Amino acid sequence: MPEIKKENPKGIHHIPVSKLKPDMHKENMRGLRHVHVAELKPGMYVVDAGITWASRPYLYMKEGLVATEEQARRIADEGYLEAYIDPARSTRDFEVTPFKETFNLERAGEPYLFKPRVPLAEEVSAAAEVHDDTVGYVRNFMDDIRTGKLDMSPAFDFMGKIMESMERNVNAMLSLCRLRRVDSYTYMHCVNVSVFTSMFARYQGMSEKEVLSLGLSGLFHDLGKALIPAQILNAPRKLSPQERLIMNSHPTLGYEQIKDIQGIIPEVPLGMLHHHEKYNGGGYPSSLSGDAISKTGYIIALADVYDALTSRRVYKDGMTPHQALGIMYEEMLGKDLHPELLNKFIKMLGVYPIGSVVEMSDGSWGVVSGCNVNAPIRPVVTLIRDAKGHALPETEVDLSAADARLSIKRCVPAETADIKPAQVLHLPPGVPGHD
Ligand SMILES: [Fe+2]
Repeated sequence: MPEIKKENPKGIHHIPVSKLKPDMHKENMRGLRHVHVAELKPGMYVVDAGITWASRPYLYMKEGLVATEEQARRIADEGYLEAYIDPARSTRDFEVTPFKETFNLERAGEPYLFKPRVPLAEEVSAAAEVHDDTVGYVRNFMDDIRTGKLDMSPAFDFMGKIMESMERNVNAMLSLCRLRRVDSYTYMHCVNVSVFTSMFARYQGMSEKEVLSLGLSGLFHDLGKALIPAQILNAPRKLSPQERLIMNSHPTLGYEQIKDIQGIIPEVPLGMLHHHEKYNGGGYPSSLSGDAISKTGYIIALADVYDALTSRRVYKDGMTPHQALGIMYEEMLGKDLHPELLNKFIKMLGVYPIGSVVEMSDGSWGVVSGCNVNAPIRPVVTLIRDAKGHALPETEVDLSAADARLSIKRCVPAETADIKPAQVLHLPPGVPGHD
């Protein structure tokens, strides 16, 4: 395993990360009731018990009075399992059953926090090579499938290399997914989806086999598109109902191609088949809903939507990750996308993913250069410009440090602030932001 380099080749000044805050402020816990979220009722006062998110990822901590039944239900729908209530601040007395840990598959593995083992600048070249090679492989298998050929074996090797890069420094692969632009969106999109799905599996502490099957299912999810006639696939206009029907057959076409391959993990074709189904029904090809949709299908859908919204295309600028996650949360939670999985996906990427251009509370500007999975609104930011527009020596600030005085005021598209995130992150040429 590579050592973390002590010296800093880019001359970035690191502000030391201070100690983690203690897990619990015990003196504040007296008299509080620990309950399952299903017990929440209007009139109960929820408190932030000062427990770190990393140790209790399913604990609802937004302090305040639960006003309505609807609000209580929403907390449960968002995937939280437990909360602390303060009887003294609640508006009436309640009989509650104390929270009891029950076996839950989702909790089988602790979230994996992707602690960087090498600096970002050191990992980007290796990550770019793997990313490019995998895009090349996607191009090949999309061509080959038209003649009935499919060689899945290189995919295992590519997935292994992607995972190794993420283990060294996940931000390298993430920033390439976000900022790199190659000539074909479709091929790069498949790789990006695969990066997000395998990262999500790893983040959730899933087994190696599950990480692999989610990565593979993400990589091949749009395989069926190669079998859609080009005049429909690339039509620069609204599709007719008949054409739409053909286009919407791509999950089934892809599924049919690989479901009978000997030794295939069944979740791989199933995820491909389900990636356009919607949580509350109304998706395609089968209008499934709820638990009838495979977990792999739901996870690919998250990655698919996120990458589509944030990608630059010929006809549109990509949204900032912040805007994209906001839209997914506001408009798709519990409708198109699985609520619990979406919440976890947002927690994984952070509210301000790597490469986001941000204005700080003191008016200075910077680029998000590292994510704190256990503090999603307090990432690591590389400051480059002060409030008056003067260039700063690149300074990396960890906003999750207890002594951090800065916070993020807003996130804007890179062009708006005239900042080139790829340059700030020292990504290799070929990534937008170098010209
Ligand atoms: Fe698709």
